[in-house]
Amino acid sequence: PAGICPFKMVLLGESAVGKSSLVLRFVEGKFHEYEVSTIGGAYLTQTVSIGDITVKLELWDTAGREKYHSLAPMYYRGAHAAIVVYDITNADTFSRAKVWVKELQHQAASNIIIALAGNKVDLATTTRQVEVADAQTYAEENGLIFMETSAKTSMNVNDIFMAIARKLPKL
Ligand code: GTP
Ligand code: MG
Repeated sequence: PAGICPFKMVLLGESAVGKSSLVLRFVEGKFHEYEVSTIGGAYLTQTVSIGDITVKLELWDTAGREKYHSLAPMYYRGAHAAIVVYDITNADTFSRAKVWVKELQHQAASNIIIALAGNKVDLATTTRQVEVADAQTYAEENGLIFMETSAKTSMNVNDIFMAIARKLPKL
């Protein structure tokens, strides 16, 4: 219908950090304790309202496993926004997230909005490996939206998607 602007948003990050879980929580309000690892990529949409503007978010959930990395440019090409996800309990996934950010900064649209999600914050008290201050500093240096999230408890899940939606250009 008239007045609905579609925006392309891509999720990137190491396998098992919770990309599909964040999308499932945002779109359907659900969480699976044993989510299936994504093959190739998955596509879902969610419509959100910002003031009196309705925005259709086209969500491209990529597969994190190494053998699918060559497909990533197909998903982030033309994207208006990206969420790069890492798992706060796994420092390697934070390093990998930084590589994705660099790739987006060089290969994606120059005005792409990038958000960094430190997921699985529900596990922070027992198994945290990435300090929130380190991620915060990195995000500020690179002009990224940053939040720690939990697809399990839903903490900050709507908030990170909405923070991006609010920054999208309004047509
Ligand atoms: P690929 O599709 O292989 O790239 O992985 P993914 O990034 O989509 O991860 P997925 O959503 O499949 O989640 C991997 C596992 O982590 C699943 O067993 C989820 O239940 C679990 N998980 C996802 N998000 C959270 C979270 O916020 N907290 C906890 N405790 N577990 C989570
Ligand atoms: Mg997945």
